[in-house]
Amino acid sequence: MRTPVIAGNWKMHNTVDESLKLVRELKPLVAGVGGVEIVVAPVFTALDAVSAEINDSNIALSSQNVFWEEKGAYTGEIAPGMLKDVGCTYAIIGHSERRQYFNETDETVNKRVKAALKAGLTPIMCVGETLEEREGGKTIEVVSRQVKGGLAGLGSAEIDKMIIAYEPVWAIGTGKTATPEQAEEVHADIRRLVGQIAGAGTAAGIRILYGGSVKPDNVDVLMSQSDIDGALVGGAALQADSFARIVKFETK
Ligand code: PGA
Repeated sequence: MRTPVIAGNWKMHNTVDESLKLVRELKPLVAGVGGVEIVVAPVFTALDAVSAEINDSNIALSSQNVFWEEKGAYTGEIAPGMLKDVGCTYAIIGHSERRQYFNETDETVNKRVKAALKAGLTPIMCVGETLEEREGGKTIEVVSRQVKGGLAGLGSAEIDKMIIAYEPVWAIGTGKTATPEQAEEVHADIRRLVGQIAGAGTAAGIRILYGGSVKPDNVDVLMSQSDIDGALVGGAALQADSFARIVKFETK
């Protein structure tokens, strides 16, 4: 049985006060909800304050990125151990916005994943094709390259600890969700690929989240697909009530 994960990626939104307000609204709405890992990923500057606020709750903390070195002359970067230090247990890695705007590549994703695992953070490694790639029939090719590249050099014991998020770029922030069938097809392919890389046991256990315009009104049908084990939520995670409804998804 794979425990579902619902993660809110707040992206570059919310000051410390706004972050605290959001999480204070969220806490009572999801209190007592079990059987699902609930994760929020605030901006770096709000991690410490949010961490203290969720300390006694069923909400866990993620960063939106992580650097691969432990310390040193890397102006502007944040090390895995520093994220652990403020209470992060997850790290989003390789989000398409990082790939698109900040030159993230499969190689740098792989370095971040390895460093996060070494520090005891659970990587949420993001993959996904652009609209052009989908329309060119390249979805599986692109996603396979990203998965293989991101997992390069890792053994099954390490991959067992990871989460993969499939986020078609054309569905992020656009209001266009992949249909449940489109998402399921790619999720099943990712799981097969993980099986080839790391064996059947790892493939059966790994959580594969869907991301891209997940909302209260489409989460149930997405979560009803057999290979969709959770959601990485952007816009709808910025409102406590909509995120709480997503956390309380119902499968058919
Ligand atoms: P969205 O973002 O839900 O606003 O589409 C998802 C993501 O980028 O993780």
